[in-house]
Amino acid sequence: MPRVNRTAVLLLLIVSSCVFLLFQLHYYRKYVSRSGPHILSQTGHLTASDIQWQTVKTFLALAQRFRLPLFLADTAALSLLSQDALRQRDQQTHEPHCTFLCTNRQVTSFGLQANLWKYNPDFLLAAEQKGFELLQLRGEDPRLASLDTLSGEEIPLHFLFRLNSYIIHVVFLYERSGNYLWHGALRLKANMDRSFAPFKLLDYGRYSGAYDRPELILTVVDGLDIKVPRNVTGFLNEQQNARFLECRYREARNFLQLYPEDSSQAAVDFRKSAKSLLHVAARTLRGLSVPFWLSSGTCLGWFRQCSVISYSRDVDIGIFIKDFRPDIISAFRDAGLTLKHKFGKVDDSLELSFLSGDVKLDIFFFYEDRDLMWNGGTQAKSGKKFKYLFPRFSLCWAELLELKVRVPCETLDYVMANYGTTWSVPVKSWDWKSSPSNVQENGLWPPAEWEELIQVY
Ligand SMILES: *[C@@H]1O[C@H](CO)[C@@H](O)[C@H](O)[C@H]1NC(C)=O
Repeated sequence: MPRVNRTAVLLLLIVSSCVFLLFQLHYYRKYVSRSGPHILSQTGHLTASDIQWQTVKTFLALAQRFRLPLFLADTAALSLLSQDALRQRDQQTHEPHCTFLCTNRQVTSFGLQANLWKYNPDFLLAAEQKGFELLQLRGEDPRLASLDTLSGEEIPLHFLFRLNSYIIHVVFLYERSGNYLWHGALRLKANMDRSFAPFKLLDYGRYSGAYDRPELILTVVDGLDIKVPRNVTGFLNEQQNARFLECRYREARNFLQLYPEDSSQAAVDFRKSAKSLLHVAARTLRGLSVPFWLSSGTCLGWFRQCSVISYSRDVDIGIFIKDFRPDIISAFRDAGLTLKHKFGKVDDSLELSFLSGDVKLDIFFFYEDRDLMWNGGTQAKSGKKFKYLFPRFSLCWAELLELKVRVPCETLDYVMANYGTTWSVPVKSWDWKSSPSNVQENGLWPPAEWEELIQVY
């Protein structure tokens, strides 16, 4: 081969590799200057985290532009945020990075405070222009439902935005009259795309939920301005037990057509007193962080007629014995109630009864026994003990008399255990020792201990 040709080939090779190098450099810089240096992982490829970060970034920029009242509600991201060690390590790293929002999950969830939000179709249009696909889920507005009207109006409950196969889940939180936030269950309609999102993995929507209004703070998470609950751990705890049961207004209306509400002055007065007593009890126990639920007749009233049973003359609540605190009694005294009786002891059949005016508050403590739960009863004059058995239950939120209260989630089982299969028929002459379906005799307190275990005031 002639010498000249070899030099020419060499030169050509050098020139072309230089051009290629410049070309690479140019592309690299163009890409980097657009997306920032952080978008490329070490191998130069977009990782799943990068895509999640970009998707959240794009969404939050839109949300900011349209002033969406959002806060971070994603349980995975919030769990990371609640870890102090991780937060400290994050502060020491200066390069942009995605520590909290890149959760390795396909979904990031946000809460939207619906009372601060104004629908703006331009927002959805802008989201579409950014490449987001949207699935909107609407449902009946429960705030309009009552014994008088069953709501027909639909409101937005959940928005799912999808980009690059990532989902931004926006959960609408509405203010309810009991001064709490509520979100609806996510139910797909027949014509909806069941593969739009991994629905089973969503943090919100399996059931409807109730939350105290969280205190929010604006902070910077992974370089993005985001509101988060001030007490992240508190919010996550709440999220675990947020399931909410709507009252069965339709059934309650049918019940009240058969058995109209007592409109006598005595009944009206009782409902008013019961409401204020229930509010006092809730406030007092909340101050002690003692969870309680509606029990016996008060639970039946909620379940059957979305109200209190006016001839029952008392308010009944249940508390797990593990949540008992000795200062419950003094706390109720401070709240203006008087102790009427104290039966049993912490180890066995504890029961407290307070008076507020002429309305009684009965507090039954519940014990666990294998697959059952039970509370005790005591007959003061004879020292006889009784036991009321219930199938195991968990606790849900509900609303009664403009108050967010707990009820057994398995409400029907609970009510049936107590009142039998005829629970839906009012019974005015009720004997607590013999009428309940689940009562058992349980022996006698030893007379030597009566003074201690049977206190009547
Ligand atoms: C946050 O919530 C947790 C759990 O509910 C509670 O124990 C804690 O006291 C709260 N912290 C603050 C600072 O309010």
